[in-house]
Amino acid sequence: MALREKIDEIRKGFSLDIDKSKTSKDVEDLKVKYLGRKGSVSSLMGLLKECTDQEKPLCGKLINDLKNEITNFCEEKIIDFSQKEVEKRLEEEYIDVTMPGREAYLGKYHPISQMTKQIVGILEGMGFSVESGPDLESDFYNFEGLNFPQEHPARDMQDSFFVTGDLLLRTHTSNVQVRVMEKSTPPIRVIAPGRCFRNETISSRSHVFFHQVEAFYIDEHVSFADLLATMDEFWQKLFGKKIKTRYRPSFFPFVEPGLEGDIACSVCSGEGCRLCKNTGWLEVIGAGMIHPEVLKAGGIDPEKYSGYAWGLGVERLAMLLYDIKDIRLFTENDMRFLSQF
Ligand code: FA5
Repeated sequence: MALREKIDEIRKGFSLDIDKSKTSKDVEDLKVKYLGRKGSVSSLMGLLKECTDQEKPLCGKLINDLKNEITNFCEEKIIDFSQKEVEKRLEEEYIDVTMPGREAYLGKYHPISQMTKQIVGILEGMGFSVESGPDLESDFYNFEGLNFPQEHPARDMQDSFFVTGDLLLRTHTSNVQVRVMEKSTPPIRVIAPGRCFRNETISSRSHVFFHQVEAFYIDEHVSFADLLATMDEFWQKLFGKKIKTRYRPSFFPFVEPGLEGDIACSVCSGEGCRLCKNTGWLEVIGAGMIHPEVLKAGGIDPEKYSGYAWGLGVERLAMLLYDIKDIRLFTENDMRFLSQF
């Protein structure tokens, strides 16, 4: 009987195929090949029509037996392979739960950002509001409007990185002063934190790239005494105690009178070290009463209003507060240094 031969042929074919299968996926594919709608076993049903009525029950049973045989074989194989595959995966994905965990590193603010935030927080609490100015600045806001005439030797005080004839990397945050005056009317009580750039020789206390926080207050009757009192209150709040300060008369074209402020060097406790150039003091701030010419440049009447301004060095203050001996550490990105903050 042709059907019987066909059944035997399929059985043999299946037996060869199943021996070659290696994974549960191979067996699933075999199931489709033999038992699927267009599979070999299903195609046998077509041959049933050619059987006589007497043969039909027997032939039907033979086809069904083959179908059950293949199904059972496949199921067993799938269970067997799946088990092995799970075991293999577990072996590959083995985790030693007794191993010590790895430390997760959380991001932190750079010490200069932390210091700036602290300074800004204190000054906001004292009534100042925050403004900002561009790093890339015109000659007017960085120099001219601040009473530095063209060719004036005072420009040499701050060696600059000029980008074009009129644009430079700002040398100080004082560039914000005239910008704010132009758009405001007194009382003005503003701080401006930011980056500064100077073409200077790098040393343990000076860098070509550093940060300042500018502060200025303009109103009627603002006096030099207001400046001194505000600076003192600020130091007290920042250091959490009364600290030794020293104010020296100094010249800046945009203030009159002007001063520079030093704080006793915390690295050597005033005994003298490389950081304070053996003076026992570290210069941290420049300040003074805003020059009438600067008020005029900002559109403010100097007959009616007066003001004070200061610019303090953020790196220098961080060095004093955290006993840091070299300003270069802030820009070297050494994790051993940065992770201490
Ligand atoms: C100024 O930059 C003035 N604009 C400050 C000012 C503002 C005066 C308002 C009057 C009124 P000076 O160059 O001294 O001044 O810098 C101020 C502070 O910035 C210094 O005391 C110091 O703390 C810091 N500083 C200046 N140059 C550097 C530098 N190269 N590296 C690190 N810090 C610096």
